[in-house]
Amino acid sequence: PIILAQTKFIQREDLTYPFEERGLQFGDGVYEVIRIYDGKYYLLEEHINRLFRSAEAIKLELPFSKEEITDLLLEMLNKNSMTRDGKLYMQASRGSAPRDHVFPGDVPANVYAYMQDLPRKTDLLKTGVSTITQEDTRWKKCYIKSLNLLPNVLAKQEAKENGCYEAILHEDGLVTECSSSNIYLVKDGNIYTHPATHRILHGCVRMRVEKFAEDLKIPFVEEAFKLESISDADEMFLSSSTSEVLPVTKVDNTVIADGNVGKITRQLQEAYEQDAN
Ligand code: PDD
Repeated sequence: PIILAQTKFIQREDLTYPFEERGLQFGDGVYEVIRIYDGKYYLLEEHINRLFRSAEAIKLELPFSKEEITDLLLEMLNKNSMTRDGKLYMQASRGSAPRDHVFPGDVPANVYAYMQDLPRKTDLLKTGVSTITQEDTRWKKCYIKSLNLLPNVLAKQEAKENGCYEAILHEDGLVTECSSSNIYLVKDGNIYTHPATHRILHGCVRMRVEKFAEDLKIPFVEEAFKLESISDADEMFLSSSTSEVLPVTKVDNTVIADGNVGKITRQLQEAYEQDAN
């Protein structure tokens, strides 16, 4: 058959990308981003556990066990002679099949993973970043790390166009998380962050931040904070596998405290540094 690709008619078999791929047509799949330091994965087990939780939540059968995929990912470091800082991207979709909203029958999942160099953001980690706030327009199952990222993409782009690093998302004034990271507010020695409900992604780094806080005897309060409390915040920071524990020094037009990186944020950054090495 003849199909249309861009503005040209071509033979269907000449289109090289798998257009009837459920990840492409429906965002029907899940993914993970795993940090690599000096050629070693950081929080590998946590990411694999989350991949399986996400897959189960969308009734996607993964073609491997946790042990098998762990071994394959470890082997991949060797195959790529990976000894630097980087990240691994991995996704699993519900396979390729004629387009139909209903799951295809016996179609295997499409899985791929690749790694790339990714230097640490050493400057930003020292100075902090500016952010904007945006309405959280995502669906109600944000704990699933699904391929449907259009609201996240649009929010991040809006941040970029405003000269900012991230977009802080809120639901009716209650802060959930950022477009691709979790967010925290420090007030009177307590760390506040949205509870790990269906409204946010349960970040692997967030789990570590909770542990670091515990070790440092800093109360980790899983209570969503309001947009209004931002102008009163002592410190703010965000976390993700690619951003680590990153200070937030400005939100829209509000400078956080004196605009410098706060003490608790520094302590958590140090704890992260030790944990990741
Ligand atoms: N993003 N919240 C959202 C919406 C995310 O997309 C991410 C990660 C996080 C932080 O999760 P973790 O600590 O496990 O990295 C929170 C990855 C890095 C991405 O999509 O590129």
